[in-house]
Amino acid sequence: MTKPVILTGLRANNDLTLGNYFGGILPIIKMAKDYSSEFQINMFIPDLHSFTTPIDHTKLQAQILHNARLFVAAGLPLDNPNIHLYRQSHVSAHSELTWILDCFTGMGEMARMTQFKDKTSQIGEDRVSIGLFNYPVLMAADILLYGARYVPVGEDQTQHLEFTRDIAERMNKKFGNLLTPPEPVAKQYEFFGKSKGLRIMDLVDPTKKMSKSDEQGRGVIFLGDDPQAAAKKVMSATTDDLAYVRYDKTNQPGISNLLEILSLLRGISLEDTVKEFEGHNKYGDFKRAVADEVVIFLTNFQKALAECDDRLISAKLKASEELMRQQAQATLYRVQKAIGLR
Ligand code: TRP
Repeated sequence: MTKPVILTGLRANNDLTLGNYFGGILPIIKMAKDYSSEFQINMFIPDLHSFTTPIDHTKLQAQILHNARLFVAAGLPLDNPNIHLYRQSHVSAHSELTWILDCFTGMGEMARMTQFKDKTSQIGEDRVSIGLFNYPVLMAADILLYGARYVPVGEDQTQHLEFTRDIAERMNKKFGNLLTPPEPVAKQYEFFGKSKGLRIMDLVDPTKKMSKSDEQGRGVIFLGDDPQAAAKKVMSATTDDLAYVRYDKTNQPGISNLLEILSLLRGISLEDTVKEFEGHNKYGDFKRAVADEVVIFLTNFQKALAECDDRLISAKLKASEELMRQQAQATLYRVQKAIGLR
């Protein structure tokens, strides 16, 4: 009897932010631990996705390993036999299934993907690669190779998840029962609960999400930031001139964001955090409290990162990749056979 699969991938380029940590990595690791007795947990580094937009290729290897270490430093257990950690490019079936699914995917379907349209307008049409266009198909292959039932992703990825269901159903209609579509997005939310809500905002422009792909990073706290430099970013965060600490996202987005960050760093509820500071009229003191917590958090986290055992990580990657190759190959073979390649 094989267990149902929960699968998720975290992109390997750029340093991750405080937002990625509290909104992505931590909840995923908690989920992995909570569900690992009933489910097979697939956590992977989508390294083939790393260069859909231009990157510095001399840094990619280090970045991939760094990503694995981030998971471990954040608490991912390496000795749990139901949790797998692997690199996408080390399981060649991902690339092979992508090509096959490509040939059953419409141009129009991909052109409608919101993330593709957004990125295209950001980086300019002449820099857009076929890989960027095509990447939801690779993502579908990532999921379908293991018949994953649940796929925790951010809101920006739900359209790709819907596409994964579409392409699976299309293949099944044409070739019989071939692929297992993941649960619909609504069911995913039901299963994972409310974790989709968390959004840490940019410190300079608190009306937009703190983003790891922000080129300048003045409003972004990266996990690799020097703690004192990060504290400075907090001290110069955009606030308002109301001189009254209050949780009010509409009128005081900057202050509200800092309150949220503080509650996450302290591991206490937002309510209790608000209670402590509500009404303060000296933003400097309040910011100092947040900056101090940022320093403590980054110092501890970076220490944990430096203490990661690379040999253990490398052994885990190799063992998981070996097993994943077997599972993925079985699905690929079924598809190859159905379409007449075998
Ligand atoms: N596209 C996802 C992102 O940018 C990463 C990803 C790639 C992924 N393949 C996946 C996530 C499969 C979940 C399942 O965040």
